Amino acid sequence: MKPTLAILLVSAPLAALVACVADASPTGPSSAELLFALDPGTSESLAEVPAVRDELAQVMYDYFGLPTAPRLRVLDSWRALGFDPNGSPLEGARPPSDFEGAPPEAILVDNQRYWASELAALNASTTPLLGPWRRRGVMNAAWSDLAARRGAEGEGEWRVEARAFFAERYPDLSEAAQMFLPNCARCHGREGGGDGPMAAGLYPKPRNYQRGVFKFAAVEGGSKPRRIDLMRTVVQGLPGSAMPSFRTTSLAEISALVDYVRYLSIRGEVEAMLVAEWENDDVPPREAIAELYELVWSRWLEAADNAQRVTAPAPDPSPERLALGEAVFHDEQRGNCFSCHGPTGKGDGRAAVQIGEDGERYVLLKDEWGDFILPRDLTSGVFRGGARREDVYLRIHCGIPGTPMPSFGASVDAAGEPLLSEDEKWALVDYVLSLSNQGPFAQADSR
Ligand code: HEC
Ligand code: HEC
Repeated sequence: MKPTLAILLVSAPLAALVACVADASPTGPSSAELLFALDPGTSESLAEVPAVRDELAQVMYDYFGLPTAPRLRVLDSWRALGFDPNGSPLEGARPPSDFEGAPPEAILVDNQRYWASELAALNASTTPLLGPWRRRGVMNAAWSDLAARRGAEGEGEWRVEARAFFAERYPDLSEAAQMFLPNCARCHGREGGGDGPMAAGLYPKPRNYQRGVFKFAAVEGGSKPRRIDLMRTVVQGLPGSAMPSFRTTSLAEISALVDYVRYLSIRGEVEAMLVAEWENDDVPPREAIAELYELVWSRWLEAADNAQRVTAPAPDPSPERLALGEAVFHDEQRGNCFSCHGPTGKGDGRAAVQIGEDGERYVLLKDEWGDFILPRDLTSGVFRGGARREDVYLRIHCGIPGTPMPSFGASVDAAGEPLLSEDEKWALVDYVLSLSNQGPFAQADSR
Protein backbone atom coordinates (compact mmCIF):
# COMPACT_ATOMS: atom_id res chain seq x y z
CA MET A 1 0.00 0.00 0.00
CA LYS A 2 1.20 3.47 -0.81
CA PRO A 3 1.83 5.64 2.25
CA THR A 4 -0.52 8.61 2.33
CA LEU A 5 0.96 12.00 1.71
CA ALA A 6 -0.58 13.50 4.78
CA ILE A 7 1.42 11.21 7.03
CA LEU A 8 4.65 11.69 5.15
CA LEU A 9 4.30 15.44 5.23
CA VAL A 10 4.59 15.82 8.95
CA SER A 11 7.97 14.19 9.31
CA ALA A 12 9.54 13.25 6.03
CA PRO A 13 12.22 15.36 4.46
CA LEU A 14 11.25 16.92 1.19
CA ALA A 15 13.29 14.53 -0.92
CA ALA A 16 11.04 11.66 0.15
CA LEU A 17 8.01 13.85 -0.32
CA VAL A 18 8.93 14.79 -3.86
CA ALA A 19 9.62 11.16 -4.74
CA CYS A 20 6.23 10.22 -3.36
CA VAL A 21 4.40 13.03 -5.10
CA ALA A 22 5.95 11.97 -8.37
CA ASP A 23 4.10 8.69 -8.35
CA ALA A 24 0.95 9.85 -6.58
CA SER A 25 -2.19 8.69 -8.32
CA PRO A 26 -3.82 11.30 -10.55
CA THR A 27 -6.75 11.57 -8.17
CA GLY A 28 -4.58 11.97 -5.07
CA PRO A 29 -3.47 15.33 -3.73
CA SER A 30 -0.91 16.96 -5.97
CA SER A 31 2.36 18.39 -4.70
CA ALA A 32 1.15 21.85 -5.69
CA GLU A 33 -1.57 21.67 -3.06
CA LEU A 34 0.80 20.66 -0.31
CA LEU A 35 3.90 22.73 -0.82
CA PHE A 36 4.30 26.46 -0.93
CA ALA A 37 4.63 27.38 -4.59
CA LEU A 38 7.81 29.18 -5.56
CA ASP A 39 7.34 32.64 -6.98
CA PRO A 40 6.33 32.18 -10.66
CA GLY A 41 9.36 34.20 -11.85
CA THR A 42 11.67 32.08 -9.68
CA SER A 43 10.21 28.83 -10.96
CA GLU A 44 10.83 30.01 -14.47
CA SER A 45 14.38 31.19 -13.88
CA LEU A 46 15.30 27.93 -12.13
CA ALA A 47 13.53 25.64 -14.60
CA GLU A 48 16.82 24.76 -16.26
CA VAL A 49 18.67 23.99 -13.05
CA PRO A 50 16.39 21.50 -11.31
CA ALA A 51 19.07 20.63 -8.75
CA VAL A 52 19.10 24.22 -7.48
CA ARG A 53 15.32 24.41 -7.61
CA ASP A 54 15.00 21.24 -5.52
CA GLU A 55 17.60 22.45 -3.05
CA LEU A 56 15.76 25.74 -2.75
CA ALA A 57 12.48 23.92 -2.07
CA GLN A 58 14.19 21.75 0.54
CA VAL A 59 15.86 24.57 2.48
CA MET A 60 12.67 26.64 2.35
CA TYR A 61 10.85 23.66 3.81
CA ASP A 62 13.50 23.33 6.54
CA TYR A 63 13.06 26.97 7.57
CA PHE A 64 9.34 27.53 6.99
CA GLY A 65 7.48 24.22 6.91
CA LEU A 66 4.39 23.82 4.78
CA PRO A 67 1.14 25.73 4.22
CA THR A 68 -0.67 23.11 6.30
CA ALA A 69 2.12 22.94 8.88
CA PRO A 70 3.87 26.32 9.05
CA ARG A 71 6.86 26.26 11.37
CA LEU A 72 9.60 28.85 11.66
CA ARG A 73 13.20 27.80 12.27
CA VAL A 74 14.38 28.95 15.71
CA LEU A 75 17.94 30.31 15.57
CA ASP A 76 20.42 29.42 18.30
CA SER A 77 20.98 33.09 19.06
CA TRP A 78 17.23 33.47 19.71
CA ARG A 79 17.11 30.49 22.04
CA ALA A 80 19.55 32.24 24.34
CA LEU A 81 17.21 35.25 24.41
CA GLY A 82 14.11 33.13 24.97
CA PHE A 83 12.66 34.26 21.63
CA ASP A 84 10.57 31.71 19.78
CA PRO A 85 8.76 33.09 16.71
CA ASN A 86 6.37 30.11 16.87
CA GLY A 87 5.58 30.69 20.52
CA SER A 88 2.64 32.42 22.14
CA PRO A 89 3.18 35.95 23.48
CA LEU A 90 0.92 34.96 26.35
CA GLU A 91 3.66 32.59 27.44
CA GLY A 92 6.39 35.20 27.11
CA ALA A 93 7.93 33.67 24.00
CA ARG A 94 8.43 36.98 22.22
CA PRO A 95 9.92 40.38 22.99
CA PRO A 96 7.48 43.01 24.33
CA SER A 97 8.40 45.33 21.43
CA ASP A 98 6.64 42.84 19.13
CA PHE A 99 3.41 43.55 20.99
CA GLU A 100 3.44 47.30 21.13
CA GLY A 101 -0.14 48.59 21.30
CA ALA A 102 -1.58 45.11 21.93
CA PRO A 103 0.40 43.64 24.84
CA PRO A 104 -0.39 40.21 26.31
CA GLU A 105 -2.50 41.81 29.09
CA ALA A 106 -4.73 43.53 26.50
CA ILE A 107 -5.13 40.25 24.61
CA LEU A 108 -6.20 38.49 27.82
CA VAL A 109 -8.75 41.20 28.60
CA ASP A 110 -10.10 41.03 25.07
CA ASN A 111 -10.42 37.23 25.27
CA GLN A 112 -12.70 37.70 28.29
CA ARG A 113 -14.90 39.97 26.19
CA TYR A 114 -14.82 37.90 23.04
CA TRP A 115 -15.46 34.54 24.71
CA ALA A 116 -17.79 35.94 27.38
CA SER A 117 -20.71 33.62 26.60
CA GLU A 118 -18.49 30.52 26.50
CA LEU A 119 -16.87 31.48 29.80
CA ALA A 120 -20.28 32.22 31.32
CA ALA A 121 -21.55 28.80 30.22
CA LEU A 122 -18.56 27.17 31.92
CA ASN A 123 -19.25 29.10 35.11
CA ALA A 124 -22.85 27.91 34.94
CA SER A 125 -21.55 24.35 34.59
CA THR A 126 -22.91 23.82 31.10
CA THR A 127 -20.68 22.85 28.19
CA PRO A 128 -20.46 25.74 25.73
CA LEU A 129 -21.22 24.96 22.12
CA LEU A 130 -19.17 26.81 19.57
CA GLY A 131 -21.80 28.32 17.29
CA PRO A 132 -21.08 28.34 13.58
CA TRP A 133 -20.04 31.99 13.76
CA ARG A 134 -17.36 30.96 16.23
CA ARG A 135 -15.96 28.15 14.13
CA ARG A 136 -12.26 28.45 13.71
CA GLY A 137 -10.99 25.36 11.93
CA VAL A 138 -8.64 23.49 14.23
CA MET A 139 -10.08 25.26 17.23
CA ASN A 140 -13.32 23.37 16.74
CA ALA A 141 -11.61 20.00 16.65
CA ALA A 142 -9.57 20.84 19.75
CA TRP A 143 -12.69 21.98 21.59
CA SER A 144 -14.63 18.84 20.62
CA ASP A 145 -11.84 16.74 22.12
CA LEU A 146 -11.79 18.77 25.28
CA ALA A 147 -15.60 18.81 25.61
CA ALA A 148 -15.71 15.03 25.11
CA ARG A 149 -13.31 14.56 28.04
CA ARG A 150 -15.74 16.16 30.46
CA GLY A 151 -16.61 13.63 33.16
CA ALA A 152 -13.58 11.49 32.38
CA GLU A 153 -11.47 13.46 34.85
CA GLY A 154 -12.18 15.58 37.91
CA GLU A 155 -14.76 18.27 37.10
CA GLY A 156 -12.67 21.00 38.76
CA GLU A 157 -9.57 20.21 36.73
CA TRP A 158 -11.56 19.96 33.55
CA ARG A 159 -13.10 23.38 34.12
CA VAL A 160 -9.74 25.01 34.75
CA GLU A 161 -8.51 23.58 31.47
CA ALA A 162 -11.68 24.53 29.61
CA ARG A 163 -11.59 28.08 30.93
CA ALA A 164 -7.96 28.47 29.88
CA PHE A 165 -8.88 27.15 26.45
CA PHE A 166 -10.86 30.35 25.83
CA ALA A 167 -9.30 32.86 28.20
CA GLU A 168 -5.71 32.16 27.11
CA ARG A 169 -6.41 31.55 23.48
CA TYR A 170 -3.74 32.74 21.07
CA PRO A 171 -3.81 30.95 17.70
CA ASP A 172 -0.49 29.51 16.60
CA LEU A 173 0.74 29.73 13.01
CA SER A 174 -1.18 26.62 11.92
CA GLU A 175 -4.42 28.01 13.25
CA ALA A 176 -3.64 31.38 11.75
CA ALA A 177 -3.14 29.66 8.38
CA GLN A 178 -6.61 28.17 8.74
CA MET A 179 -8.03 31.64 9.25
CA PHE A 180 -5.96 33.14 6.46
CA LEU A 181 -6.93 30.61 3.80
CA PRO A 182 -10.71 31.23 3.81
CA ASN A 183 -10.56 34.94 4.71
CA CYS A 184 -7.58 36.43 2.96
CA ALA A 185 -6.10 34.07 0.37
CA ARG A 186 -8.77 34.79 -2.23
CA CYS A 187 -7.20 38.22 -2.62
CA HIS A 188 -3.68 37.91 -1.20
CA GLY A 189 -2.95 34.42 -2.56
CA ARG A 190 -2.03 31.31 -0.61
CA GLU A 191 1.65 32.28 -0.63
CA GLY A 192 0.87 35.96 0.01
CA GLY A 193 1.96 36.85 -3.52
CA GLY A 194 -1.06 39.17 -3.95
CA ASP A 195 -2.36 36.91 -6.68
CA GLY A 196 -5.44 35.19 -5.25
CA PRO A 197 -8.34 34.36 -7.59
CA MET A 198 -10.06 37.69 -6.86
CA ALA A 199 -6.97 39.82 -7.43
CA ALA A 200 -7.18 40.19 -11.20
CA GLY A 201 -10.14 42.57 -11.21
CA LEU A 202 -8.99 44.80 -8.37
CA TYR A 203 -7.43 48.24 -8.29
CA PRO A 204 -5.40 48.76 -6.21
CA LYS A 205 -4.17 45.18 -6.26
CA PRO A 206 -4.12 43.20 -3.02
CA ARG A 207 -0.74 43.53 -1.36
CA ASN A 208 1.98 41.12 -2.42
CA TYR A 209 3.57 40.50 1.00
CA GLN A 210 6.60 38.81 -0.50
CA ARG A 211 8.38 42.07 -1.30
CA GLY A 212 8.36 42.87 2.40
CA VAL A 213 7.04 46.37 1.60
CA PHE A 214 3.95 47.71 3.35
CA LYS A 215 2.32 51.06 2.80
CA PHE A 216 0.60 52.22 5.95
CA ALA A 217 2.94 52.18 8.90
CA ALA A 218 4.06 54.71 11.48
CA VAL A 219 7.77 54.06 10.95
CA GLU A 220 10.75 55.88 9.43
CA GLY A 221 11.07 55.35 5.71
CA GLY A 222 12.60 52.03 4.74
CA SER A 223 11.72 50.27 7.99
CA LYS A 224 9.48 47.23 8.15
CA PRO A 225 6.06 47.99 9.59
CA ARG A 226 5.40 47.17 13.22
CA ARG A 227 2.90 44.42 13.87
CA ILE A 228 0.54 46.99 15.34
CA ASP A 229 0.54 48.91 12.02
CA LEU A 230 -0.59 45.80 10.15
CA MET A 231 -3.12 45.01 12.86
CA ARG A 232 -4.62 48.44 12.38
CA THR A 233 -5.04 47.71 8.66
CA VAL A 234 -6.69 44.35 9.32
CA VAL A 235 -9.07 45.83 11.92
CA GLN A 236 -9.99 48.97 9.98
CA GLY A 237 -9.54 47.84 6.39
CA LEU A 238 -8.26 50.26 3.76
CA PRO A 239 -11.03 52.64 2.63
CA GLY A 240 -11.13 53.13 -1.12
CA SER A 241 -9.71 49.66 -1.73
CA ALA A 242 -11.06 46.11 -1.59
CA MET A 243 -9.26 45.46 1.70
CA PRO A 244 -12.13 44.74 4.13
CA SER A 245 -12.29 45.44 7.84
CA PHE A 246 -12.08 42.44 10.17
CA ARG A 247 -13.30 44.39 13.14
CA THR A 248 -15.53 41.70 14.58
CA THR A 249 -12.86 39.18 15.46
CA SER A 250 -10.77 39.08 18.62
CA LEU A 251 -7.50 40.87 19.28
CA ALA A 252 -5.72 37.52 19.66
CA GLU A 253 -6.94 36.41 16.25
CA ILE A 254 -6.05 39.69 14.53
CA SER A 255 -2.62 39.49 16.10
CA ALA A 256 -2.19 35.88 14.96
CA LEU A 257 -3.31 36.75 11.43
CA VAL A 258 -0.62 39.40 11.36
CA ASP A 259 1.91 36.83 12.62
CA TYR A 260 0.94 34.83 9.57
CA VAL A 261 1.21 37.81 7.19
CA ARG A 262 4.71 38.41 8.57
CA TYR A 263 5.53 34.73 8.18
CA LEU A 264 4.47 34.79 4.51
CA SER A 265 6.32 38.04 3.96
CA ILE A 266 9.58 36.76 5.46
CA ARG A 267 9.21 33.52 3.55
CA GLY A 268 8.74 35.35 0.24
CA GLU A 269 11.53 37.83 0.81
CA VAL A 270 14.03 35.16 1.87
CA GLU A 271 13.16 33.09 -1.19
CA ALA A 272 13.77 36.03 -3.54
CA MET A 273 17.08 36.85 -1.82
CA LEU A 274 18.24 33.24 -2.05
CA VAL A 275 17.55 33.17 -5.76
CA ALA A 276 19.39 36.47 -6.24
CA GLU A 277 22.43 35.18 -4.29
CA TRP A 278 22.49 32.10 -6.43
CA GLU A 279 22.12 34.00 -9.70
CA ASN A 280 24.66 36.71 -8.86
CA ASP A 281 27.31 34.87 -6.89
CA ASP A 282 26.50 31.23 -7.43
CA VAL A 283 25.95 30.65 -3.68
CA PRO A 284 23.75 27.56 -3.22
CA PRO A 285 20.57 28.24 -1.18
CA ARG A 286 21.65 25.95 1.65
CA GLU A 287 24.78 28.01 2.30
CA ALA A 288 23.08 31.38 2.05
CA ILE A 289 19.85 30.89 3.94
CA ALA A 290 20.89 31.16 7.60
CA GLU A 291 22.32 34.64 7.19
CA LEU A 292 19.49 35.95 5.01
CA TYR A 293 16.83 34.51 7.30
CA GLU A 294 18.40 36.23 10.29
CA LEU A 295 18.77 39.49 8.36
CA VAL A 296 15.14 39.69 7.27
CA TRP A 297 13.97 38.76 10.77
CA SER A 298 16.18 41.39 12.36
CA ARG A 299 14.57 44.06 10.15
CA TRP A 300 11.12 43.06 11.37
CA LEU A 301 12.23 42.88 14.99
CA GLU A 302 13.81 46.32 14.96
CA ALA A 303 10.72 47.98 13.43
CA ALA A 304 9.66 49.08 16.93
CA ASP A 305 12.86 51.13 17.22
CA ASN A 306 11.87 53.10 14.11
CA ALA A 307 8.40 54.02 15.33
CA GLN A 308 7.08 57.52 14.71
CA ARG A 309 4.96 58.57 17.64
CA VAL A 310 2.87 61.59 16.77
CA THR A 311 0.66 63.87 18.78
CA ALA A 312 -1.21 66.48 16.80
CA PRO A 313 -0.86 70.08 17.95
CA ALA A 314 -4.09 71.82 18.83
CA PRO A 315 -6.03 72.65 15.66
CA ASP A 316 -5.66 76.25 14.56
CA PRO A 317 -8.21 76.75 11.82
CA SER A 318 -7.08 80.26 11.05
CA PRO A 319 -6.99 81.45 7.45
CA GLU A 320 -3.22 82.03 7.84
CA ARG A 321 -2.60 78.34 8.60
CA LEU A 322 -4.57 77.22 5.58
CA ALA A 323 -2.79 79.77 3.41
CA LEU A 324 0.58 78.45 4.62
CA GLY A 325 -0.45 74.87 3.80
CA GLU A 326 -1.73 75.89 0.40
CA ALA A 327 1.46 77.78 -0.41
CA VAL A 328 3.72 74.83 0.49
CA PHE A 329 1.44 72.48 -1.47
CA HIS A 330 1.93 74.58 -4.61
CA ASP A 331 5.58 75.50 -4.10
CA GLU A 332 7.72 73.61 -6.60
CA GLN A 333 10.82 73.88 -4.39
CA ARG A 334 9.06 72.77 -1.20
CA GLY A 335 6.06 70.44 -1.01
CA ASN A 336 5.53 70.29 -4.75
CA CYS A 337 2.43 68.26 -3.92
CA PHE A 338 0.49 69.74 -6.85
CA SER A 339 2.87 68.17 -9.38
CA CYS A 340 1.30 64.81 -8.51
CA HIS A 341 -1.93 65.65 -6.72
CA GLY A 342 -2.88 68.38 -9.19
CA PRO A 343 -3.57 72.09 -8.70
CA THR A 344 -6.92 71.39 -7.04
CA GLY A 345 -5.87 68.14 -5.33
CA LYS A 346 -7.86 65.90 -7.67
CA GLY A 347 -4.90 63.54 -8.19
CA ASP A 348 -4.28 64.66 -11.76
CA GLY A 349 -0.97 66.52 -11.53
CA ARG A 350 1.24 66.73 -14.59
CA ALA A 351 3.79 64.27 -13.13
CA ALA A 352 1.02 61.72 -12.70
CA VAL A 353 -1.37 62.02 -15.60
CA GLN A 354 -0.96 63.35 -19.12
CA ILE A 355 -3.35 63.75 -21.97
CA GLY A 356 -1.79 62.21 -25.08
CA GLU A 357 -2.05 63.60 -28.62
CA ASP A 358 -4.84 61.09 -29.13
CA GLY A 359 -6.80 62.79 -26.36
CA GLU A 360 -6.48 59.75 -24.04
CA ARG A 361 -5.45 60.07 -20.39
CA TYR A 362 -2.14 58.35 -19.61
CA VAL A 363 -1.09 57.40 -16.08
CA LEU A 364 2.64 58.00 -15.68
CA LEU A 365 3.42 56.62 -12.21
CA LYS A 366 4.02 53.01 -11.15
CA ASP A 367 4.38 51.39 -7.76
CA GLU A 368 6.89 48.92 -6.31
CA TRP A 369 4.78 46.02 -7.56
CA GLY A 370 4.88 47.24 -11.16
CA ASP A 371 1.30 48.49 -11.33
CA PHE A 372 0.19 51.91 -12.52
CA ILE A 373 -0.83 54.14 -9.65
CA LEU A 374 -2.72 57.39 -9.31
CA PRO A 375 -2.03 59.92 -6.59
CA ARG A 376 -4.93 60.14 -4.16
CA ASP A 377 -7.79 62.45 -5.09
CA LEU A 378 -7.51 64.59 -1.98
CA THR A 379 -10.97 66.08 -2.50
CA SER A 380 -12.61 62.66 -2.12
CA GLY A 381 -12.25 62.47 1.64
CA VAL A 382 -11.02 58.87 1.33
CA PHE A 383 -7.82 58.26 3.25
CA ARG A 384 -6.59 54.69 3.24
CA GLY A 385 -4.29 55.22 6.16
CA GLY A 386 -6.96 56.99 8.23
CA ALA A 387 -8.43 60.50 8.21
CA ARG A 388 -7.31 61.75 11.62
CA ARG A 389 -4.84 64.63 11.56
CA GLU A 390 -2.18 62.28 13.00
CA ASP A 391 -2.78 59.80 10.18
CA VAL A 392 -2.42 62.38 7.42
CA TYR A 393 0.70 63.74 9.13
CA LEU A 394 2.20 60.23 9.11
CA ARG A 395 1.56 59.84 5.37
CA ILE A 396 3.30 63.17 4.68
CA HIS A 397 6.15 62.56 7.14
CA CYS A 398 6.78 58.85 6.45
CA GLY A 399 5.58 58.76 2.85
CA ILE A 400 3.77 55.71 1.49
CA PRO A 401 6.44 53.03 0.97
CA GLY A 402 6.28 51.23 -2.34
CA THR A 403 4.54 54.18 -4.02
CA PRO A 404 5.80 57.49 -5.48
CA MET A 405 4.34 59.36 -2.47
CA PRO A 406 7.59 60.70 -0.94
CA SER A 407 8.61 60.83 2.71
CA PHE A 408 8.90 64.49 3.65
CA GLY A 409 10.48 63.52 6.96
CA ALA A 410 13.41 62.20 4.93
CA SER A 411 13.50 65.00 2.31
CA VAL A 412 16.23 67.60 2.58
CA ASP A 413 16.99 70.74 0.60
CA ALA A 414 20.25 71.58 -1.22
CA ALA A 415 21.85 72.69 2.06
CA GLY A 416 20.97 69.38 3.72
CA GLU A 417 18.32 70.99 5.92
CA PRO A 418 14.87 69.35 6.30
CA LEU A 419 12.81 70.41 3.31
CA LEU A 420 9.72 71.12 5.40
CA SER A 421 9.48 72.26 9.01
CA GLU A 422 7.17 70.53 11.48
CA ASP A 423 4.97 73.60 11.37
CA GLU A 424 4.68 73.42 7.60
CA LYS A 425 3.85 69.71 7.68
CA TRP A 426 1.00 70.32 10.11
CA ALA A 427 -0.22 73.25 7.99
CA LEU A 428 -0.23 70.85 5.02
CA VAL A 429 -2.24 68.32 7.04
CA ASP A 430 -4.94 70.88 7.72
CA TYR A 431 -4.89 72.17 4.17
CA VAL A 432 -5.21 68.62 2.79
CA LEU A 433 -8.11 67.87 5.12
CA SER A 434 -9.80 71.14 4.14
CA LEU A 435 -9.84 69.98 0.50
CA SER A 436 -12.41 67.34 1.41
CA ASN A 437 -13.91 69.43 4.17
CA GLN A 438 -12.78 66.98 6.85
CA GLY A 439 -10.88 67.42 10.06
CA PRO A 440 -10.89 70.46 12.30
CA PHE A 441 -12.66 72.67 9.76
CA ALA A 442 -15.53 70.40 8.85
CA GLN A 443 -17.78 71.61 11.64
CA ALA A 444 -16.85 75.24 11.29
CA ASP A 445 -17.76 75.10 7.60
CA SER A 446 -21.06 73.31 7.97
CA ARG A 447 -22.42 75.84 10.39
C1 HEC B 1 -11.41 41.38 -1.23
C2 HEC B 1 -9.98 41.42 -1.24
C3 HEC B 1 -9.19 41.36 0.06
C4 HEC B 1 -9.35 40.50 1.13
C5 HEC B 1 -10.40 39.40 1.30
C6 HEC B 1 -8.29 40.81 2.06
N1 HEC B 1 -7.54 41.84 1.57
FE1 HEC B 1 -5.88 42.64 2.47
N2 HEC B 1 -5.70 43.99 0.94
C7 HEC B 1 -6.51 44.04 -0.16
C8 HEC B 1 -6.07 45.14 -1.01
C9 HEC B 1 -6.71 45.54 -2.33
C10 HEC B 1 -4.96 45.72 -0.38
C11 HEC B 1 -4.10 46.88 -0.89
C12 HEC B 1 -4.70 48.26 -0.79
C13 HEC B 1 -3.72 49.34 -1.17
O1 HEC B 1 -2.72 49.07 -1.80
O2 HEC B 1 -3.94 50.47 -0.78
C14 HEC B 1 -4.75 44.96 0.84
C15 HEC B 1 -3.71 45.21 1.73
C16 HEC B 1 -3.44 44.45 2.86
C17 HEC B 1 -2.32 44.63 3.73
C18 HEC B 1 -1.20 45.64 3.53
C19 HEC B 1 -1.33 46.93 4.27
C20 HEC B 1 -0.14 47.84 4.02
O3 HEC B 1 0.19 48.63 4.89
O4 HEC B 1 0.48 47.78 2.96
C21 HEC B 1 -2.39 43.67 4.71
C22 HEC B 1 -1.42 43.45 5.86
C23 HEC B 1 -3.58 42.90 4.46
N3 HEC B 1 -4.21 43.41 3.33
C24 HEC B 1 -4.00 41.84 5.23
C25 HEC B 1 -5.15 41.11 4.99
C26 HEC B 1 -5.60 40.02 5.83
C27 HEC B 1 -4.86 39.51 7.06
C28 HEC B 1 -6.75 39.56 5.29
C29 HEC B 1 -7.65 38.46 5.81
C30 HEC B 1 -7.99 38.48 7.23
C31 HEC B 1 -7.02 40.35 4.10
N4 HEC B 1 -6.03 41.28 3.96
C32 HEC B 1 -8.11 40.16 3.26
C33 HEC B 1 -7.57 43.22 -0.45
C34 HEC B 1 -8.05 42.21 0.36
C1 HEC C 1 5.65 62.02 -6.86
C2 HEC C 1 4.23 62.15 -6.67
C3 HEC C 1 3.70 62.64 -5.35
C4 HEC C 1 4.03 63.79 -4.66
C5 HEC C 1 5.08 64.83 -5.02
C6 HEC C 1 3.15 63.84 -3.53
N1 HEC C 1 2.32 62.74 -3.51
FE1 HEC C 1 0.90 62.33 -2.13
N2 HEC C 1 0.49 60.58 -3.04
C7 HEC C 1 1.07 60.14 -4.21
C8 HEC C 1 0.52 58.86 -4.56
C9 HEC C 1 0.89 58.02 -5.76
C10 HEC C 1 -0.41 58.51 -3.54
C11 HEC C 1 -1.25 57.25 -3.44
C12 HEC C 1 -0.53 56.13 -2.73
C13 HEC C 1 -1.43 54.93 -2.52
O1 HEC C 1 -2.01 54.43 -3.45
O2 HEC C 1 -1.57 54.51 -1.39
C14 HEC C 1 -0.41 59.64 -2.63
C15 HEC C 1 -1.22 59.70 -1.50
C16 HEC C 1 -1.32 60.79 -0.67
C17 HEC C 1 -2.24 60.91 0.44
C18 HEC C 1 -3.27 59.87 0.84
C19 HEC C 1 -2.98 59.13 2.15
C20 HEC C 1 -4.04 58.10 2.47
O3 HEC C 1 -4.10 57.71 3.64
O4 HEC C 1 -4.81 57.68 1.61
C21 HEC C 1 -2.04 62.15 0.98
C22 HEC C 1 -2.77 62.75 2.17
C23 HEC C 1 -0.99 62.79 0.24
N3 HEC C 1 -0.57 61.95 -0.75
C24 HEC C 1 -0.53 64.07 0.49
C25 HEC C 1 0.55 64.65 -0.18
C26 HEC C 1 1.12 65.93 0.17
C27 HEC C 1 0.59 66.85 1.26
C28 HEC C 1 2.18 66.14 -0.67
C29 HEC C 1 3.15 67.29 -0.69
C30 HEC C 1 3.77 67.63 0.59
C31 HEC C 1 2.25 64.99 -1.57
N4 HEC C 1 1.25 64.13 -1.23
C32 HEC C 1 3.16 64.84 -2.57
C33 HEC C 1 2.01 60.81 -4.96
C34 HEC C 1 2.63 61.99 -4.60
